[in-house]
Amino acid sequence: MADDVTSPETEPRPEATSDRESTTEDEAQPAPETEPTSSSGDDAEKATVPDWPIGLHALGYGGDYNPEQWPMEVRLEDIELMREAGVNLISLAIFSWASIEPREGRYDWSWLDNIMDRLQAAGVRVALATATASPPPWLTANHPEILPRTAEGVVLHQGGRQAYAPSSPVYRDYAVKMAAAIAERYATHPALALWHIDNEIGCHVPHDYSESAERAFRTWLRRRYRMIDKLNEAWGTAFWSQRYSAFKDVLPPWAAPTYANPTQQLDFARFSSDTLLEYYKKLRDAVRPITPHVPATTNFMVSLSTKWMDYHRWAREVDVVATDHYTIADDPEREIDLALAADMTRGVAGGKPWILMEHSSGAVNWQPRNRAKGPGEMIRNSLAHVARGADSVMFFQFRQSKAGAEKFHSALVPHAGRNSSGWRESVRLGETLAALGDVAGARVPARVAMLFDYHAWWAIELDSHPSVDVTYGDRIRALYRELWYRNVTVDVVHPGEDLDGYDVVLVPSLYLVTDEHAAAIAAAAERGAHVVITYFSGIVDERDHIRLGGYPGAFRELLGMRTDEFFPLLADEQVTLDDGTTADVWTERLEVTTAEVLRTFTDGPLPGGPALTRNAVGEGAAWYVATRQDEAGTAALIEQVLGQAGVAPVAPAPRGVEVVRRVREGDDEGRSFLFVLNHTDGEASVPASGTELITGATVEGELRVPAHGSAVVAER
Ligand code: GAL
Repeated sequence: MADDVTSPETEPRPEATSDRESTTEDEAQPAPETEPTSSSGDDAEKATVPDWPIGLHALGYGGDYNPEQWPMEVRLEDIELMREAGVNLISLAIFSWASIEPREGRYDWSWLDNIMDRLQAAGVRVALATATASPPPWLTANHPEILPRTAEGVVLHQGGRQAYAPSSPVYRDYAVKMAAAIAERYATHPALALWHIDNEIGCHVPHDYSESAERAFRTWLRRRYRMIDKLNEAWGTAFWSQRYSAFKDVLPPWAAPTYANPTQQLDFARFSSDTLLEYYKKLRDAVRPITPHVPATTNFMVSLSTKWMDYHRWAREVDVVATDHYTIADDPEREIDLALAADMTRGVAGGKPWILMEHSSGAVNWQPRNRAKGPGEMIRNSLAHVARGADSVMFFQFRQSKAGAEKFHSALVPHAGRNSSGWRESVRLGETLAALGDVAGARVPARVAMLFDYHAWWAIELDSHPSVDVTYGDRIRALYRELWYRNVTVDVVHPGEDLDGYDVVLVPSLYLVTDEHAAAIAAAAERGAHVVITYFSGIVDERDHIRLGGYPGAFRELLGMRTDEFFPLLADEQVTLDDGTTADVWTERLEVTTAEVLRTFTDGPLPGGPALTRNAVGEGAAWYVATRQDEAGTAALIEQVLGQAGVAPVAPAPRGVEVVRRVREGDDEGRSFLFVLNHTDGEASVPASGTELITGATVEGELRVPAHGSAVVAER
């Protein structure tokens, strides 16, 4: 079956080349390689799509709802409970394909019609899914060719979920048909407010090696390189006798005797992200002409735990960014991971408000040990997302399942039912969010940017590198953590984002960087920003080719230094710096040209060698951190940089009390909202004046927040 191929937006189809491979094979359409911009979506196309939110006059509150798992009396109770908790937004039909179309071509809409009507009557808006997140058993049984395959050639079968190859033209045709059928059915339904396309696309199968993927990868490569020799050049195939004479011989990076070609791996990661995005676009474009009045999104998984989807690029294709986030029960600083994920999401959303599409009210079912949340934690988590730009707080899921793999996953309505602390918390959250309606649409100002790029992440963690201990998230977390404890808000943005207006630009481990982005980073320092670059940054170009002449090729001049050898530390090896702090993982032999040496190593492989340097550049400065500093060293660095840049905390607060401000821009009254989340065991006092929105209390100069509590002050 042929895919209904749409032509790529800006890139012409490839010319016929010396490659003799048939061009009639099924094709996955890659998006052209262009840099993300801060806006999401194509403006011309978006002109017809109204802005989210539609019909919501407050912050959104609700979650995934799976009524097909319950008899009618429970569904009726659910509607009552939604009213009781003030739920106003529900995601429906995410995994409903087999319930809607139990046999091919036989549709049963009755249950969905019924619940759509009841939700409408209860004033609940619906984010309606395309029901495609898991193909029904009849489909995989009839078409086993749609099943995905691993790099080892293992077929991933029906029985869990997401058992489809996103490049499969057969699967795409079926999924498009399902999406269009559901759109036709509910096009005029008044509850329909948002399209929820598929679900966490790429969550379980970010890389597929099925036959359709193999064909689509070649098509993607032909479009990217046009000539096989261009691919040979980009992939450095003069190495290990890898030279290709035709595209037809090129394979995905299957399990191989040893390291697969790194650029092949990187391109396969790019292809895989593009292919999943293409799948999203096919479904979005199936519902769009039928419902041009309904915006579309899909739930991203923006955090340092989900690596393979390039959400900066994906964000251009959704009408509003939505994301899912789950805290890790045995992470004692999980509120920091949450805050980082939320700030990353705001960066993906170009600074605009976004939807928290899923988080958990308590335990999940997929960690080794799934503990319920502590006192006040669910509300603090919810408000931390709102503080950082979420305008809706949604959960997986509304009612806890009694069967299936997720029966031990918490929900707004727990197994214990209405008479439970969980349900009382759900009601309390509804009341809290209702009191915060004015926050919707407000922005989150920040003077510090942290650069984050999926392609750099994919590349830095390829195999056969100087040290397995160098990971992308490591310095991102470490620098972010220091800022979090100081209540300095950070925009986590793509390197292509406009850096004007930031006083500090952090560049953690940006191993792969384009010339253009390196120039923009240098320009930020010239203009007056303090740019902080950590080790193993600026090493390669977008093809993963070393930038020659001394490391870090892209930033040597900016940093006023040059490295001729890396000396990664051995497992458990530590070095000491001249201020008594320690470091591990990384050292390098660097010489300064114009930079000043701020710290040196006193031991280890390079005693006396520079560990931290600072180069005065234009109106600003470029700092280089040549080792993995311990907490004390990282804290001292951040203090110094913030001090020199004149960046102060949002408000002074005890350690562990999170303070973030949202501001209504362009609002004549210039209203702002101060979120104070007390993650500690003691009462906290924070300077503030205005009205505390949850209690309605007037605050005069000092806000007191109880242990584990939350407060939001509409400031005066
Ligand atoms: C998400 C998914 C939901 C549910 C949830 C459990 O990955 O979208 O359907 O499985 O995790 O935490």
